[in-house]
Amino acid sequence: MNVVVIPFFLAAHLTVDEPWEHGPEYTFQVQVNCTAIPEEGIYGSVRLNLVSKLICQPKGSHMLSCHFEDSKANSFVVDSLDPSEPVVPAGLVNRQPAYEINEDQFEIKFNKRGLDSLVVNENIQPRELDMIRMIVGQLSVGAVLEGVGNDIIFDAMENFTQGECYTTFKIDKKLVGRPLYAKPSYALRPVFGLKDGKLVQIRKIRNLHMCAHKVPYFFGNAESFREESDIISDISLSDGHIIITSTEFISGTSNVITTNKITETVITTLYENVRLRLESIQAAKSEPLAVKEAEPASIFIGRWLIDDSSEEDN
Ligand SMILES: *[C@@H]1O[C@H](CO)[C@@H](O)[C@H](O)[C@H]1NC(C)=O
Ligand SMILES: *[C@@H]1O[C@H](CO)[C@@H](O)[C@H](O)[C@H]1NC(C)=O
Repeated sequence: MNVVVIPFFLAAHLTVDEPWEHGPEYTFQVQVNCTAIPEEGIYGSVRLNLVSKLICQPKGSHMLSCHFEDSKANSFVVDSLDPSEPVVPAGLVNRQPAYEINEDQFEIKFNKRGLDSLVVNENIQPRELDMIRMIVGQLSVGAVLEGVGNDIIFDAMENFTQGECYTTFKIDKKLVGRPLYAKPSYALRPVFGLKDGKLVQIRKIRNLHMCAHKVPYFFGNAESFREESDIISDISLSDGHIIITSTEFISGTSNVITTNKITETVITTLYENVRLRLESIQAAKSEPLAVKEAEPASIFIGRWLIDDSSEEDN
């Protein structure tokens, strides 16, 4: 049985005898790690880590119907000033419920390039919607990769959660240099074809000086980007990477954002890593839940309805 994991991009071949009554259910492990380093008065950095599960079922051929489960967010202070260093909190760990995503059902529509739009409950908080966008944005490739060859580099405008920018895509296919995990009951099949024992790495380097628009968003930010604010933010780096083997799908983004609170002249640098990893493909127990009071929403941070530019100008 073949199932669509990410519309237009990734399918899976399952070795099951009979087709599943309610189709497949995909579980993705979610990790969002943020490190905030203030420029002055530093004794260390502040870390915020969120773990969660994103559970999705295909709905038609272009959509996934999803919700989050088991979100847990913590923050703590560490001595280390190296955001790439995994650290064990030495002192107090604070639970951060405001960063734990609710479990309401929503839908993700795809087009050939990646994420197209969302369908959410019309009462969703804008801050919550932006957090969801940032995480599910990892399911977006951002370009049509059907039939690409082995090692190629190309540039294209890419729509992603934080804007529309000129992005360099680097695609490498190579032999897996490490043993694969124990063989699961599925084999992943990306649109461009991938032989067993091979790995494809897609890197995206966003040229943030060449954007049709961009929003300097950081995870959990409640700023309304339409209002006057005394915080000036800028995004200085946004790189994406996707790794696929016949058994694994991992997609992540690294962002660097600086925020400057004018009234206090404090500059803080934020390093963010978001990662999704396919954990399992199982038989769904029922049809996906409907989205309550469903309203279409754009994939772009800070925007609500699709193509409703008058609302943005308000
Ligand atoms: C997040 O932090 C944890 C603990 O330091 C680490 O194990 C994990 O690899 C990090 N994930 C990402 C996406 O940076
Ligand atoms: C990005 O999205 C906008 C709004 O939906 C659309 O007009 C534009 O063509 C898209 N660009 C790309 C490169 O997909």
